[in-house]
Amino acid sequence: MTKPIAGFSKLTKEEKINWIATHYTHDPKDTIRILESYWNQDTSLQKLHDEFIENTISNLYMPMGIAPNFLINDQLYAIPMVIEESSVVAAASKAAKFWLKKGGFKTKIIGTEKVGQVHFIFNGEFEKLEQFFNKTKPKLIADAFSLTTSMSKRGGGIVNIVLRDKTSRLDNYYQLHCTFETQDAMGANFINSCLEQFANSFKSEALQYDAFNAKEKEIEVVMSILSNYVPNCLAYAEVSCPVDALTISLEISPKAFAEKIVRAVDIAKIEPYRAVTHNKGIMNGIDAVVLATGNDFRAVEAGVHAYASRNGSYSSLTHAEIIDGIFKFYIEIPLALGTVGGLTKLHPLVKLNLEILQNPSAKELMQIMAVAGLAQNFAALSSLVTTGIQKGHMKMHLMNILNQYGATEQEKVTVIEHFKTHTVTHSGVVNELDSIRKK
Ligand code: MEV
Repeated sequence: MTKPIAGFSKLTKEEKINWIATHYTHDPKDTIRILESYWNQDTSLQKLHDEFIENTISNLYMPMGIAPNFLINDQLYAIPMVIEESSVVAAASKAAKFWLKKGGFKTKIIGTEKVGQVHFIFNGEFEKLEQFFNKTKPKLIADAFSLTTSMSKRGGGIVNIVLRDKTSRLDNYYQLHCTFETQDAMGANFINSCLEQFANSFKSEALQYDAFNAKEKEIEVVMSILSNYVPNCLAYAEVSCPVDALTISLEISPKAFAEKIVRAVDIAKIEPYRAVTHNKGIMNGIDAVVLATGNDFRAVEAGVHAYASRNGSYSSLTHAEIIDGIFKFYIEIPLALGTVGGLTKLHPLVKLNLEILQNPSAKELMQIMAVAGLAQNFAALSSLVTTGIQKGHMKMHLMNILNQYGATEQEKVTVIEHFKTHTVTHSGVVNELDSIRKK
């Protein structure tokens, strides 16, 4: 059995690679070859990537594609998407093209409030704590002045601090529930710095507060941290058109199609098993843009799914309705994003992707992502309620199967031609390749 290693982080990159290769892989020489083959030829670019995280040994890169023809509030966008799953970019592009001819996507921002909390334990009477909080609140904000000056210049800062009594759920547990405006920054560092300052000021002020007894003076701060649950940092996107204009194929009438989409969304609203997959499809679009723009996909994912459960049962993030002959399909989604800070200026591709998106503000990027999610959901539902997804999906997956079996360029052309008129299945592709090779 491999022994634990001390001081791994102090080893050079080559030493780390040697160690992992010899202790954890069956063919160390080949492991080293694979890892090195993904290093960037440009050593300064590789160094940049090495320094994004710790103990870097290689890069695992993902394909970056473009979904063009997104008309959003009358402006045309080509959306960069970073994702490993076939069909997603094609589906987004198809939905964009479909709605392009119908006025495109309309979007707006519902809110931009970010949240952070100081979680603390107080052994005493709530009324006394409340009086102390009301007296101390201006000092908490004043003490954070040096942290907030540059954010204030950009129009952001601390919005409010509220004392919350959570003792009905956990003995002696209270919070400073803090809200922030962080403009174009995701704001995690800003928020966490402010929270830690609030916590320090709160604790030290309590020690000097005469109305508190000895026990009450000893406020125990458990932790100070931003929340990735941002139900008031919301983007909205919609598409709509007369039902009669919803011609998707000759096999289904526009009316039947519209009604099926509404029914599919209704199912995702009340059935969590379906809602999770429905929302996963939405996140196919959103995560791909989150990654392309260097944003924090874990934060977005956590916040989105919490929002999808806000009414006590996991539910659809999109909505569909038919009113007076008009089909409307829309999404409301919490997205805490940044277009400054983080990787935005550091990673050359992230910088480029933001340029492709016309250097959006965080608010604009929220709306673009909401659109990517809505488009993806529309594309998925359109397939699901008509042909099913496998037909299109397997067609896109064909190239993956061919690559898996080492098909040559000529073999690819021949097999792709064959499957223009045949249903793609894994075994079908393998058989076809075999028969070409036998010839
Ligand atoms: C696959 O990645 C996503 C879908 O399953 C989404 C959905 O079912 O709505 C097609």
